[in-house]
Amino acid sequence: MKQAKYTLITGASAGLGREFAVRCAKSGMNVILVALPGGNTSSLAVSLCREYQVDARVFEFDLTDSHALKSNIEAITTTFDIDFLINNAGTGGTSPITDTSLENIDRIIQLNVRSTALVTRLLIPHLLEHERSYIMNISSMAAFTPIAFKTVYPASKAFISSFSHGLREELSGTGLSVSVVYPGPIMTNSNTSRRIIGQGLKGKLGLLPTPRIAEIALKGTLAGQPVIIPGWMNKVNHLLMSILPLDLKLKIVSGAVKKEIRYQPSLQNN
Ligand SMILES: NC(=O)c1ccc[n+]([C@@H]2O[C@H](COP(=O)([O-])OP(=O)(O)OC[C@H]3O[C@@H](n4cnc5c(N)ncnc54)[C@H](OP(=O)(O)O)[C@@H]3O)[C@@H](O)[C@H]2O)c1
Repeated sequence: MKQAKYTLITGASAGLGREFAVRCAKSGMNVILVALPGGNTSSLAVSLCREYQVDARVFEFDLTDSHALKSNIEAITTTFDIDFLINNAGTGGTSPITDTSLENIDRIIQLNVRSTALVTRLLIPHLLEHERSYIMNISSMAAFTPIAFKTVYPASKAFISSFSHGLREELSGTGLSVSVVYPGPIMTNSNTSRRIIGQGLKGKLGLLPTPRIAEIALKGTLAGQPVIIPGWMNKVNHLLMSILPLDLKLKIVSGAVKKEIRYQPSLQNN
């Protein structure tokens, strides 16, 4: 019989997802960590169990493989009782469209868009079994404007935004609360960090430490906030994005992003 409750975190082995895993365990939540095979997720789980006396389980599979996704999520829900889903796994990059491989485009769409929608759809019936449950979807400040030289990534994050708002409305009146988080730049993986440093002061605007972003996102989600924008600078940015005409914000942001290209190797993040 399922008794203990678990928080499922996708992309939990590194970056923001790892920070969510640590924070959730620290506050006494049992966690299910989803990441690609071959990483250090198992050792993270062992250290969380030891340090915080919670149960931490690892499921290593490729979220872009919809068969693996379906069978793993079904196996998880057969054994574990999930009351909190954190859709964090995501990828992106900066490169001119003709230099971007079909595989990279496909990977961004499959991970950011398809896997988020499928994991959410598979878990909703289980989340609804609880009097109170939560979904946190990680979008990005990039969702607020189209961006040249990134094109697919901001579009995928705009999907997350729209998907989250629609779900929240559909599920209103149930105990399941849906929140969407729009982080600004985060120094997570080395490619992203190199890119942010390379942008100088402009790249660092809105930059917050990863633990602080995780803290704000978790607090807001558990308080039932629909929209979470970490940091005052990002809130100002959002305001600007909502009042500037499309062609102007497109030019300003795309101009800044173009400078990133020289800091990006062929496989990139965010
Ligand atoms: N970094 C930023 O500046 C920034 C800004 C705004 C929004 N975001 C968003 O925040 C979220 C986290 O970003 P991050 O920078 O923390 O990412 P990250 O450091 O690159 O970590 C990505 C995580 O996702 C996992 N993952 C990647 N591909 C996967 C796949 N196909 N199947 C299963 N797991 C997979 C990775 O697992 P492995 O370690 O096993 O590969 C890792 O745990 C993303 O949605 C991103 O778009 C990031």
